[in-house]
Amino acid sequence: MSSNNFISYIWVEDLSAERTLALFNRANQIKTEIQNNSLEASLAGKQIAFLFSEASTRTKMSFQMAAQRLGAQCLIVDDVERSSMSKGESFSDTFWTLNAMGPEMFVIRCGNQDPLLQLSEESRVPILNAGFGNRSHPTQALLDSFTLKQHFGDVRGLKVLFVGDIDHSRVASSNFSLLKSLGATVKTCAPKEFCQNNPDGIENIESLPEAISWCDVYVGLRMQFERHNDGGKNFNSQKFVEKFGLNSAGLKALRKDAVILHPAPVNWGIEFDESVAKDPRLLMWKQMENGVYIRAALMELYLGAHS
Ligand code: CP
Repeated sequence: MSSNNFISYIWVEDLSAERTLALFNRANQIKTEIQNNSLEASLAGKQIAFLFSEASTRTKMSFQMAAQRLGAQCLIVDDVERSSMSKGESFSDTFWTLNAMGPEMFVIRCGNQDPLLQLSEESRVPILNAGFGNRSHPTQALLDSFTLKQHFGDVRGLKVLFVGDIDHSRVASSNFSLLKSLGATVKTCAPKEFCQNNPDGIENIESLPEAISWCDVYVGLRMQFERHNDGGKNFNSQKFVEKFGLNSAGLKALRKDAVILHPAPVNWGIEFDESVAKDPRLLMWKQMENGVYIRAALMELYLGAHS
């Protein structure tokens, strides 16, 4: 699966576990330097092109915040309807158009149908994957593991449970690979129809109470209606919530020293009920904060601005 180069970051496998841990160290430094107001503008003079053909709030804004903190400037195409893609220009031609203007790096979010892999082979400047259809979201996996390392001190040995719409989740697939490489154990808890593609060795526990009693980390996943064949029309929300929604009873059963993650956005009332929002074990806002540090460290690494 690895694109086997150090030019672009498309899959979590593009960085070894050792490099990933070094990246976490740098992200920690960046956090301290931002807090001390001592972060150097290591990307001053760099132009970073953003090409987003799918919607985003967190990933786009945290990449942009990170780039700006490091002194880079951003060139953004993120509204298909207001770009020349609405006139029929292809994603690929849009990429080469921006490329002709000379950015030093691309940050790309796109669908399964977009030629990200081909562009990553042909591009002369680094491409960072900001979400690729239902296939991969490696920077989300990085910030999730960084958040766990920050909280627990080590990712090794953690029991991490993913609950909900596994098959449509690029967050789950990237996390499965990264958590395995960092020494965590992963299981899922989902209705059969949402975990058909679990990789070998990832067990699905169908009973949520049983799954909750197993885990150190509970990861809720957004129900990805836009990726369902029927657009979610036949999704039985009440049935899902009864069996797989996290509510006050689930919170009571979850260990006191466990944590709860969610990549967000959350469908409140589906994967989590309102009681989860107030639970101190929910690290979702910390995940979003950490996205800035991780993405800053990654941009520095791929632009050779920090070893
Ligand atoms: N978690 C995540 O990727 O959020 P956005 O879609 O808002 O970027």
